[in-house]
Amino acid sequence: MNKMIAPSLLSADFTNLKADIEMVNNSQAHWFHLDVMDGVFVPNISFGMPVIKAVKKLATKPLDVHLMIVQPERFISDFKKAGADILTVHYEASTHLHRTIAEIKKEGMKAGVVLNPHTPINVLVDIICDLDVVLLMSVNPGFGGQKFIENTYNKISKLKNLIVKNNCNTLIEVDGGVTIENSTKLFEAGADVLVAGNTVFSSDNPILTIQKLSTP
Ligand code: DX5
Ligand code: ZN
Repeated sequence: MNKMIAPSLLSADFTNLKADIEMVNNSQAHWFHLDVMDGVFVPNISFGMPVIKAVKKLATKPLDVHLMIVQPERFISDFKKAGADILTVHYEASTHLHRTIAEIKKEGMKAGVVLNPHTPINVLVDIICDLDVVLLMSVNPGFGGQKFIENTYNKISKLKNLIVKNNCNTLIEVDGGVTIENSTKLFEAGADVLVAGNTVFSSDNPILTIQKLSTP
């Protein structure tokens, strides 16, 4: 169990992003989580390469870029150039996933697959050891501040069993509705990395909140 925290900048203050980036730099967080949405794969549009490039100039921790876009394979080298260290693509959005993962790694990034809440773990059986990370959506993607889906614990256990059975080093990341109340249970279930947007950025003391999320 790694107990890593990845604050999602989707809930940051875009009028003063520099301050929020510096807060994450100075916190116990491990990664920056960046949500890219195209208005097609998800019913929302967020930000793209220019914002990631700007974050990269100030961030002192790896950028974990979560692509909620159709055919993410079109932009792998562009996200590398923008500064992504970890690139995750949705199972539901990439037809030739094995090739997509290989191309992400060839660019020198860590590669991950994201599963929507309805997508079963077993679709990863033949690819699990090729993945640096599996990101389980614990809300339907598209928006911050949604309610956590309880079936996620069940999916974490199934994914953990698959990783252990195959003796691979894949990390389990959970995204959506993470709070100080459910973080311990999520780590105990087998999660290595928790994404938190609203919980961190709506807090009066985000540094303390990040600390409480990883060591409650
Ligand atoms: C949702 C995004 C999440 C989002 C999480 O589509 O993938 O990363 O920012 O936000 P919270 O933690 O507020 O649920
Ligand atoms: Zn995300």
